[in-house]
Amino acid sequence: MSMIRCTTLVSLAVLIVSSPATLRAETSTVDAIAEYHAMFGDENPAELWQLRGKNLWEQPRGPKNVALSKCDLGLGAGVIDGAYAQLPRWFDDTQRVQDLESRLVFCMVTLQGFAEERLLKTRFGDGPKKSELEALTAYLVAASRGHKVAVSLTHPAEQAAYDLGRGAFFYRAGPHDFACATCHGEAGKRIRLQVLPKLTEVEGARSAYTSWPAYRVSQGELRTMEWRLADCFRQQRLPQLKYGSEIAIGLTMFLAKNANGGVMTAPAIKR
Ligand code: HEC
Repeated sequence: MSMIRCTTLVSLAVLIVSSPATLRAETSTVDAIAEYHAMFGDENPAELWQLRGKNLWEQPRGPKNVALSKCDLGLGAGVIDGAYAQLPRWFDDTQRVQDLESRLVFCMVTLQGFAEERLLKTRFGDGPKKSELEALTAYLVAASRGHKVAVSLTHPAEQAAYDLGRGAFFYRAGPHDFACATCHGEAGKRIRLQVLPKLTEVEGARSAYTSWPAYRVSQGELRTMEWRLADCFRQQRLPQLKYGSEIAIGLTMFLAKNANGGVMTAPAIKR
């Protein structure tokens, strides 16, 4: 066994534990979220992002000064009710499988005339730097609340996206030789205070997938699924995940398919 592999195993053992102590720690995280609810009731700051997103969707904007009402998210131009629950999906006009985020970029570039680089520069907001894509995502995902996740793999390209995502999920890489499955392939795993959902199983996949985007109390920011995946790429010590890339869409397709039938509740509140 090489030194690297040996260190990996040791660090993995230290990192991923499942002891009574961490169980207590997890309870305290859950308690903290419960305290938050006690203070703020059912109010979710994500609503601020949703409101901003609604304006961004409805107002004429960009160099071409048009609204996004002609943007087709898969159920027809301007139809947002339940659209997110069926994404990612194949689109004839772009000849590719797209998730919500990549579809939004496409609409903002083609309909409104925005430059893609400008949009991607603020793909994730932080503090005063607000992201239009996050606000729009919050608004559009909320329009699927109560709808069941229903992605289809009928088109060969949808099946290919799923296969790519599945392959990526189990592919071990990076300095620690981690795969997504290392952290998310078994029930009951934890890192420090955080429960690691088993994303290959219906229950874990549903509870995770249906709750993103989420307002993260610890960051005071609303975060999207693309952010979640990018942050897990970082935890896995992989190169930065490209927004709207085939791999991001493939992983989303894999998670969504595993979550099929789960009822959308996002945006949620997370620690
Ligand atoms: C080193 C461990 C690790 C690896 C590898 C990892 N993740 Fe994660 N992941 C986490 C942690 C920790 C959290 C929870 C963070 C929190 O609660 O703040 C998380 C959360 C998530 C969530 C949200 C779960 C929920 O219920 O909200 C998803 C989805 C996810 N990861 C997907 C992935 C995918 C896809 C990969 C592979 C590209 C991956 N993760 C790789 C540690 C990891």
